[in-house]
Amino acid sequence: MFDKLKAINTEFEQAIANVCSNEELESLRIRFLGRKEGLITNIFKDIGKIKPEEKPVYGQKINDLKNLITQTIAQKAKDIEQVSIELAQSKGAEAFDLSLPSFKNETGAMHPLSIVTDEICTLFVEMGFMVVEGPEIETEYYNFEALNIPLEHPSRESFDTFYLHKKNLLRSHTSPVQARYMEKNKPPIQIIVPGKVYRPDATDATHSFMFHQIEGLLVDDGITLAHLKGVLSVFAKKLFGTKTKTRFRPHFFPFTEPSAEMDVSCIICRGKGCRVCGGNGWIEILGAGMVHPKVLKSVNIDSKKYSGFAFGMGVERIAMIKYGITDIRLFFENDMRFIKQFS
Ligand code: PHE
Repeated sequence: MFDKLKAINTEFEQAIANVCSNEELESLRIRFLGRKEGLITNIFKDIGKIKPEEKPVYGQKINDLKNLITQTIAQKAKDIEQVSIELAQSKGAEAFDLSLPSFKNETGAMHPLSIVTDEICTLFVEMGFMVVEGPEIETEYYNFEALNIPLEHPSRESFDTFYLHKKNLLRSHTSPVQARYMEKNKPPIQIIVPGKVYRPDATDATHSFMFHQIEGLLVDDGITLAHLKGVLSVFAKKLFGTKTKTRFRPHFFPFTEPSAEMDVSCIICRGKGCRVCGGNGWIEILGAGMVHPKVLKSVNIDSKKYSGFAFGMGVERIAMIKYGITDIRLFFENDMRFIKQFS
């Protein structure tokens, strides 16, 4: 009988050494101390089979073994808990590895067209102009008729247009905002109008079906071509540098009379002639002219009392000149290698 106790003790020592989890410990406890079939419980039942004088000693030994097993199991439970705490801590340390390089905070940057638009608008705001915007979906009336471009007028072709339903269209220039603004506001008027415009051109290095323009309009008492030349020459010097020269070539626009195109002396070769200016030393940057009396009439402004000038320029073109960009498509492809150069 005493041998049986020893065997149980040995079996227990081996078994507990292999226990790693609470679940394993619990099944070990049931195997040895379980009330129904536990090895210790069963051995108590043997008591009846032994000699009466040995009973107290035997009972004592069983109790000792039971206590030992109970205590060992309790200690093992504590050990398991300690190990799991340490494991959690070491895992936590891995999750917050302070030696890892930190994530880089990507900072956004302005698109080159936004930079140039802001710069140009700011220059005009400094000269007293107010920034105004208009709709990109326009009516035929504002895009053409109000600007003295009647239907069938051949010049309508030069403003090739995306037509929508019901006489709506995608505006082909920012000039309709002139008419919209003058309808609602009386002189003195001094506005600068940035925005997107659309023309069904095949895309290539210098054409895009969508591009940006900045329109300017100044109407007041006694405004002359001298004001137009003065304001636009100051603008060119501010944008491209004080040494920049300007020249005005006669041109035709239905909504201005007289009309002109303004060139600036090439910012690359300073007028000597290079690849950028095509060898002639001048770069065309905008169209302008004195607001046509018919346009003033269409918005009920008395052309005998008031006169004004208007101008319009392409933002992409100016950005390309300014930054030496040779392909307009780069502005719209969102290639990070291109965009990042302007941050
Ligand atoms: N709207 C003209 C264009 O898109 C530019 C322009 C604006 C010309 C204002 C004269 C006056 O080409």
